[in-house]
Amino acid sequence: MAYDLDQFIADTRAALARDPGPAGREKVRQDLEKLLNNHDFINKHCGDDQPRGLQVLYEDPKLGFQVLAHINDKARVSPPHDHGASWAIYGQATKYTEMTEWEREDDGSDPKHAKLKVKKKYRLTPGHAGIYQDGDIHSIDYPDYARFVRVTGTDLDKINRIKIDLKTGTVDQMTPQQAT
Ligand SMILES: [Fe+2]
Repeated sequence: MAYDLDQFIADTRAALARDPGPAGREKVRQDLEKLLNNHDFINKHCGDDQPRGLQVLYEDPKLGFQVLAHINDKARVSPPHDHGASWAIYGQATKYTEMTEWEREDDGSDPKHAKLKVKKKYRLTPGHAGIYQDGDIHSIDYPDYARFVRVTGTDLDKINRIKIDLKTGTVDQMTPQQAT
C-alpha cells in the first residue's frame, strides 16, 4: 500500500517522541520524501481543487508539530528568515523551490541588524525535502504553481521569528501568516 498521510503522521509522532532532536527530525524528513512520492497524496492534498494558501493538514495535540500544505498559484521570493526556536522541513510537491541557506557574518549582538553571507544554494525538486534547524536562516524562491508540504516543530505563528532585509541588513519580526 502507498505511504499515506495517516501513516506519515503516526511515524512522525513516533520518531519525535523517541528523539525530538536532529536524528528524529531526519527520520521525519525521509518519511516526508516517501509521502511526496505518493501521487494519490499529491493529487488529494496539493491538487488544483484544493483551497489556495496555507492549509493545516495536521497538528499534533501532544507534541505540537504541524503538517502544512502550501497551495500556491503565484511565484514568490521570500526574504531570508528563521523559524525562531523551531525547526522546519520543506518537502517539494510540484515545480521547484530555489533554496538559499545563509549564515551570519556578524556576531548576532545587534538585535536590529544582521550581515549575511550565502552558505548553500540548491534547488528542491518534487519528492525531495530539506531540513532547517532551530535558528537557521534560509530564503525561498519559487515559480507559479510551486507547491510544498512543510512540517514544523510547533505552530510558527505563536513564536518569535526574524526576517532580514538583504539590502539594509535590517532585522524585523515576522508577522503571523508570513509562515514560509
Ligand atoms: Fe522558512
